[in-house]
Amino acid sequence: MIEFDTAENILKKYGQEHILAYYDELNNTEKAELLSQIEMTDFSVLENLKDENNISSKRGKFEPLDAVTIEDIEKNRETYYSAGSEAIKEGKVAAVLLAGGQGTRLGFDKPKGMFNIGISKELYIFECLMNNLMKVVKDTGVYVPLYIMTSEKNHDDTVNFFEEKNYFGYDKKYVKFFIQDMAPSSDFNGRIYMESRSCISISPNGNGGWFSSIVRAGLLKDIKNKGIEWINVFAVDNVLQQIADPCFIGAVINSGSQSGSKVVSKVSPDERVGVLCLEDGKPSIVEYYEMTKEMRTLTKENGQLAYKYGVILNYLFKVERLEDIIAEKMPVHVVEKKIPYMDNNGSFVIPDENNGYKFETLVLDMVHLQESCLPYEVERCKEFAPVKNAEGVDSVESARKLLIQNGIKL
Ligand code: UTP
Repeated sequence: MIEFDTAENILKKYGQEHILAYYDELNNTEKAELLSQIEMTDFSVLENLKDENNISSKRGKFEPLDAVTIEDIEKNRETYYSAGSEAIKEGKVAAVLLAGGQGTRLGFDKPKGMFNIGISKELYIFECLMNNLMKVVKDTGVYVPLYIMTSEKNHDDTVNFFEEKNYFGYDKKYVKFFIQDMAPSSDFNGRIYMESRSCISISPNGNGGWFSSIVRAGLLKDIKNKGIEWINVFAVDNVLQQIADPCFIGAVINSGSQSGSKVVSKVSPDERVGVLCLEDGKPSIVEYYEMTKEMRTLTKENGQLAYKYGVILNYLFKVERLEDIIAEKMPVHVVEKKIPYMDNNGSFVIPDENNGYKFETLVLDMVHLQESCLPYEVERCKEFAPVKNAEGVDSVESARKLLIQNGIKL
């Protein structure tokens, strides 16, 4: 562990000396904890607050990218299905569940996957996902290896919950957990918040670090030993998420693409969803707030939106390519959030409004590191029921409606 002087020098470099303000008052354990936290924390993310490092000003030239549409998929369903299920049966496909987020918008104090979305019976978000994955196991006769990313904040709760629920009937031999990295949170002036006198405010560093965290956890070896070639990465909060979908996998493999992304048609030009497109000739996702009005409303000759396909955080990546790009630096997004902190009187405050920044890398930026990405259109009402908020859009209520519509008993 680093010495006090080294810690002080690191903090001076980033103008964060206040982190050691109470050092002399701490007991030895707290002192050691704080020094070790300073050693582990990547303070360089603060550089992203400088205007010249702002990633949104560095975007290239966008162009639309067409998808394999629902109609195309219907026509080729058998071919895609057989290619995909063959890959699964040969053990070439794994899935990664991104469950390290804090789910602040939902306001649930446990991992989001532990949320009970049932009405007259218990049905947990994790359970919905495992049920969906189980369908593939039943169809192919093969268990798909599942890697679950947690964060330091929710790891124990997540693992214990899976144990308690007996992995919802999944064979636990095929499930492995790994913990993602953390990043510090700051106020709007870039001053890092403290949670207590001995603890820096840190939070999960976004979902973009999933592959480097897998590598750091030593799981790449496991992936290689198993002969896994494709990884389906998906979000915890879409209760209709179809995981390791054989048709999707088959379509990507047959297309010769390096990656694939499930997409849905936008409901309106202004829908707040990231759109899969080309940026400087490479696949990329443009966020809704980055799109000009012209881009949002641009239509093709057939009258359809040119930037039409929104991403739903369900990607297929090739392991070979992920290994190639592991050393590439992912852009850091500066996101305004509500950050609990210790105020000047030493009291712990949970704010009602956004009060600072978190620093996150995003899995969607991984798409731009691919030479190609196949947009694969799915029916929104069958595959997209995100639980982001407690009420309103993308809420518990809207997801429940969609689950019921899909014949799932709540
Ligand atoms: P969101 O962007 O919705 O973030 O995550 P969140 O933290 O879950 O929710 P809010 O914004 O605080 O309300 C999309 C997916 O990425 C995962 C989440 O668990 C979810 O599956 N994620 C997000 C991580 O695994 N790690 C992170 O650091 C952030």
